[in-house]
Amino acid sequence: MDLLWVLILVLLSLSRYNMAMADSNSVSHSGNALNLESVRDSLIRQEDTIVFSLIERARYPVNSRLYNQTLGLVPGFSRSLVHFIVKETEAIQAKAGRYENPEENPFFPNGLPPSVVPTHKYPQVLHPAAASININEHIWDMYFNQLLPLFVAEGDDGNYASTAASDLNCLQALSRRIHYGKYVAEVKFREAPQDYEPLIRAKDRDALMNLLTFKNVEEMVKKRVAKKATVFGQEVTLGNNSSGNYKIDPLIVSHLYAEWVMPLTKLVEVEYLLRRLD
Ligand SMILES: *[C@@H]1O[C@H](CO)[C@@H](O)[C@H](O)[C@H]1NC(C)=O
Ligand SMILES: *[C@@H]1O[C@H](CO)[C@@H](O)[C@H](O)[C@H]1NC(C)=O
Ligand SMILES: *[C@@H]1O[C@H](CO)[C@@H](O)[C@H](O)[C@H]1NC(C)=O
Repeated sequence: MDLLWVLILVLLSLSRYNMAMADSNSVSHSGNALNLESVRDSLIRQEDTIVFSLIERARYPVNSRLYNQTLGLVPGFSRSLVHFIVKETEAIQAKAGRYENPEENPFFPNGLPPSVVPTHKYPQVLHPAAASININEHIWDMYFNQLLPLFVAEGDDGNYASTAASDLNCLQALSRRIHYGKYVAEVKFREAPQDYEPLIRAKDRDALMNLLTFKNVEEMVKKRVAKKATVFGQEVTLGNNSSGNYKIDPLIVSHLYAEWVMPLTKLVEVEYLLRRLD
């Protein structure tokens, strides 16, 4: 048997073992690809990607022609230039296998071409009935209508393709982080199914949300992302004095997390849990 299949079967049996042993805190079993520590490490590492992608987007002014649907910049395409660029970029990334990875969720899933390259067999750790949750429409709206105006300068420098590429990097980083809520929910469910099952059966969203909310952890995350924005976004000079200018306002990054990233991640977690027993 192919070595890869052996590995997948081992991972699958470990995850079954974990489910069976869930009440003895075995989710952090060292042989399993998914445990609380690996999920937490991934979330922390993804903060770096988000902060860097916002810093890159802040290099360009708002460039609002990119987002204007009525300008008709692309012949034969009725939506905005940014729609066109994101859709076409996703199509080529889909051909290269990007969306075979269950951590990746496309913004335009309809009509995406299949992968043309041999695909990696990703371990199936998510519950099949809940794995396809996709709230990218919500993330798209939040990013363009609420977040972007907070951190880009007025103006138009004509760099539409580069600006749209930066937007897509931000969108993908945010989408990956927010949809990672599926993994958070899976690991929490496996850790304490007895706490979640009655609430899931009762479809009690509010109680699930309460169970998933840890105010002190959220405060810590807000402080950490603001600090990352301070460190990553400062102007680096050879002297000892820094200018005190940041490429992105650290308060905007903590606001982004408080208002959107953490609430939307929890929304994904609740949606996932509600389908976890299907
Ligand atoms: C889009 O472009 C049209 C034509 O230039 C302009 O009239 C309209 O105000 C623009 N819309 C926005 C939201 O900027
Ligand atoms: C930076 O500070 C250190 C310690 O205060 C000092 O020795 C050094 O000369 C300073 N360097 C510059 C470039 O000012
Ligand atoms: C930084 O230090 C250099 C050399 O001491 C000085 O010429 C410059 O004005 C300082 N810059 C700021 C922003 O304080």
